[in-house]
Amino acid sequence: MDISGRTRVCGLLANPVEHTLSPVLHNTLAEKTGINLVYVPFKPEVENLGTAVEGAYSLNVLGLNVSIPFKQEVMKYLVDIDKSAKDIGAVNTLVRTEGGFKGYNTDISGLKKAFLSEGIQIKGQKIILLGAGGAAKAIAYLMALEGASKVYILNRTYGRAAVIAKEINECFAMDHVIPLALEDYRKLPKDSYLGIQTTSVGMHPNVEHAVVEDPEFYKLLHTAYDIIYTPAETKFMKYTKEAGGRAYNGLKMLLYQGVVAYELWNQTQVGQEVVDLVYKRMEQELRK
Ligand code: ATR
Repeated sequence: MDISGRTRVCGLLANPVEHTLSPVLHNTLAEKTGINLVYVPFKPEVENLGTAVEGAYSLNVLGLNVSIPFKQEVMKYLVDIDKSAKDIGAVNTLVRTEGGFKGYNTDISGLKKAFLSEGIQIKGQKIILLGAGGAAKAIAYLMALEGASKVYILNRTYGRAAVIAKEINECFAMDHVIPLALEDYRKLPKDSYLGIQTTSVGMHPNVEHAVVEDPEFYKLLHTAYDIIYTPAETKFMKYTKEAGGRAYNGLKMLLYQGVVAYELWNQTQVGQEVVDLVYKRMEQELRK
């Protein structure tokens, strides 16, 4: 890599930041698209987020990704926020504009592209969303935006599911989003659902568990999407396949949220061949 006076800098604000795949993702994109850009990890302390964002702007940083624990907090330090990011209340991408950074949420545009690439339809679908954290809220928003016919949010803590459902129903002036307690999957209408798993259960090193263990549950799913990508096949995915459904992990969601961010920073379109190559590099990196 030739670093010169023209090299643009992008990076990730996260804490911890050590295990991120984003540098591999973006530096491969830069290499393959021929853009003189370098992407590095930044690890601000929680109390220094504001000065980190302001300092990055002063240093002429082109763009930043934002991850745990900063996705909500960072919104205070931006000059503008894209509508869907504002609705969701979380920003994962900062784009340099006149006077400061503008915030976007490419987790949802990334998931939309990931679903498209896997042939997973949203419009008209009945969806079961497991979990009610930040990721679940963004995904429920996307499902409502893209015309899912019903979104059932199932969570261990019913109250958190109820809050998200209410906010999203209000956002779209509808009542398609329905909160349930986790064990209430037994009360769901017998039907065929797209299941999306957003809890941390099943993630490495806790690979022997799924948030629902009952085999009866998996008979409800024609397709399963787990936002976890370590391991490459979670128990949630395995149970779905055993019950006859299709299953995907979250690596494409991670891939495409990065591609969309890169496209925003560089005002470019990344071709599919490059995207496929980046995906292979990410898979290799995970095997290390
Ligand atoms: P994120 O913002 O990344 O989505 P989060 O806000 O910590 O993360 O949310 C984690 C989700 O995983 C929550 O829905 C959580 O359930 P609670 O709201 O009841 O805490 C869910 N979760 C985590 N561990 C769980 C477990 N052992 N069983 C069931 N759900 C679990």
